[in-house]
Amino acid sequence: MEAIKVSGLRKSYGKLEVLKGVDLSVASGSIFALLGSNGAGKTTLVRILSTLLKPDSGKANVSGFDVVAQPEQVREAISLTGQFAAVDGILTGRENLIMVAKLRQVKNPGQVADDLLKRFSLVEAGNRRAATYSGGMRRRLDIAMSLVGEPRVIFLDEPTTGLDPEARIEVWNEIQGLANSGTTVLLTTQYLDEAEKLADRIAILHQGTIIVSGTLAELRNLLPPAKAELVERQPTLEEIFLAVIGNKEALV
Ligand SMILES: Nc1ncnc2c1ncn2[C@@H]1O[C@H](COP(=O)(O)OP(=O)(O)OP(=O)(O)O)[C@@H](O)[C@H]1O
Ligand SMILES: [Mg+2]
Repeated sequence: MEAIKVSGLRKSYGKLEVLKGVDLSVASGSIFALLGSNGAGKTTLVRILSTLLKPDSGKANVSGFDVVAQPEQVREAISLTGQFAAVDGILTGRENLIMVAKLRQVKNPGQVADDLLKRFSLVEAGNRRAATYSGGMRRRLDIAMSLVGEPRVIFLDEPTTGLDPEARIEVWNEIQGLANSGTTVLLTTQYLDEAEKLADRIAILHQGTIIVSGTLAELRNLLPPAKAELVERQPTLEEIFLAVIGNKEALV
């Protein structure tokens, strides 16, 4: 079953054509990583899929609903952690979570909040105003907020940007746990090791279209086989990325 299906999606801002016919599909319960350079259009695509932005043409279907014709049903099925945090600094971490729980009409908002504070190591900070949080704590709270109400599809736009290594691993574990429990995750990232570690499938958005997509093993097959030198080494996703977007240095 496909949780996300996109075909021929196009979007321009004025004369700037950002998406020039994007096709992709994401299986239910899988983790899909969308890679691309700065300005490639990742956030634009995520905003279209989460109904914040209308495409110019093409089709996008999320959890069985059309993003243009059935935006309310899509919104009920998804949640989004945007590239920039949606946390309210005046409220405490716990109050932020309770506010989202009430908006999503979840039962026992206080309990849901406490559970998420624990999962994201924010118990001690929970009763402090979010304005006093470090960047990484804010980010973790932001992701925790997107898990309230157990949405079927979660969009995470650069979920671990700015996190320290330990916090990144914590977030990775949460993302993996979500997929294990059947949630579909589409994430964008600049960290290629993150995609290598987490994603069932990876796609690269470049100059308006998806230029390659597949499992890590399939992407590895795009490059010449690992050479037997002193040590045999598989190409990293970073090398594949640079090679397919046309960075010559990666090919030497
Ligand atoms: N509201 C807007 N009006 C005009 N141009 C925009 C708008 N939003 C985005 N763009 C442009 O569209 C292109 C794609 O932007 P987008 O934010 O989707 O890229 P991205 O892949 O998410 O980049 P990053 O990795 O830096 O987050 C960029 O050239 C950006 O300047
Ligand atoms: Mg972006």
